[in-house]
Amino acid sequence: MLKVGLIGIGFMGRGHLDNYLRLEREGFPIKLVAICDIDKNKFENRFLPGNIDVGNKAYDFSKYHLYTDIDEMLENEDLDYIDTPRPTYLHAEVAIKALNKGLNVLCEKPMSLSSKNCMDMIEASEKSNKKLMIAQCLRFWPAYEYIKECIETGRFGKVVSGSFFRGGSTPKWSYNDWYLKKELSGGCLFDQHIHDVDTINWLFGKPKSLSTIAKNVVEGSGYDILSTNYIYEDGKIINTQDDWTLNGDYGFQMRFRVNFEKGNVIYEHGKLKVNPNDSEGFIPDISNDDGYYREIKYFINSLINDTPIITADPRSCMETIIIAEAESHSADMGGKFIDLI
Ligand SMILES: NC(=O)c1ccc[n+]([C@@H]2O[C@H](COP(=O)([O-])OP(=O)(O)OC[C@H]3O[C@@H](n4cnc5c(N)ncnc54)[C@H](O)[C@@H]3O)[C@@H](O)[C@H]2O)c1
Repeated sequence: MLKVGLIGIGFMGRGHLDNYLRLEREGFPIKLVAICDIDKNKFENRFLPGNIDVGNKAYDFSKYHLYTDIDEMLENEDLDYIDTPRPTYLHAEVAIKALNKGLNVLCEKPMSLSSKNCMDMIEASEKSNKKLMIAQCLRFWPAYEYIKECIETGRFGKVVSGSFFRGGSTPKWSYNDWYLKKELSGGCLFDQHIHDVDTINWLFGKPKSLSTIAKNVVEGSGYDILSTNYIYEDGKIINTQDDWTLNGDYGFQMRFRVNFEKGNVIYEHGKLKVNPNDSEGFIPDISNDDGYYREIKYFINSLINDTPIITADPRSCMETIIIAEAESHSADMGGKFIDLI
């Protein structure tokens, strides 16, 4: 039975908690034993709503050992791993601390705000011989897994173009408003857009170069709207767009359109559709589970079976941060192309 400590019970932490409750119901050999959050209000079910529905409204916290201090939790509990849906500026510090104590770590995305911190996290994992996985959930999202498989099998030939979008309301629910402070969250570029940066890295590898134009809207929050073109040797046209100032009733959307030599695959409004050039379109049969559930399950299985973290391995997730750093640099220079290879 793996013993888990969850650190951070804000918007994402509640999503993770729901999945632990589900995994326990399903008889998975895990037990969430401890929860830590600096803000005691959370243990009284006082939450702020986010832009997607990830968690229940109320929980029975009485069955967990509750902490407001991480060191105390790490000292008192005999855990197998910690899961850290905490604000991004704290990811590296807590991951390294736990790895040094001999615990495995499931760390929320983005891995960190600097590639230097990412390297320190990897070194701590290698030194302690404990597993570190970054919760880049799209690598476990069925529609994104499907497109990855189409690319790898060449079922529709080679990719000729791909366009990826994420957008939603401005995140106004966070602890001390950390999302809207560039130095703490990295802004939309390092937070929301990082999912698509990671997707293009995972699907196509590091681009040869890139150009990003971006705009700040909310004072102090960094880039809130951005658009990036990625250059690849084979000339495929790949771009991403993000905007976290789509307020009002917009909610949240993630979409992609990948065009192959022999058809295209579209994901929008939560639906995946394949349009082969020479036959009727179809809706592929994919899992109904979301990436949050599947990433946690993958991590647990890798601990139980002692198998390597391949799908979201930290070195590849660090490369995502390197690409995001280049995007930020390009945006600072008004869209100048930055070489990555
Ligand atoms: N995978 C996804 O799709 C996705 C979606 C949203 C957020 N996230 C990521 O999850 C992480 C958390 O985001 P969130 O939206 O839950 O933020 P949040 O502000 O809602 O929650 C963060 C929680 O951490 C707690 N906290 C802050 N400092 C702490 C400390 N020193 N010790 C213990 N607890 C502390 C806060 O009280 C809060 O409950 C971020 O890295 C974010 O990028 C991922």
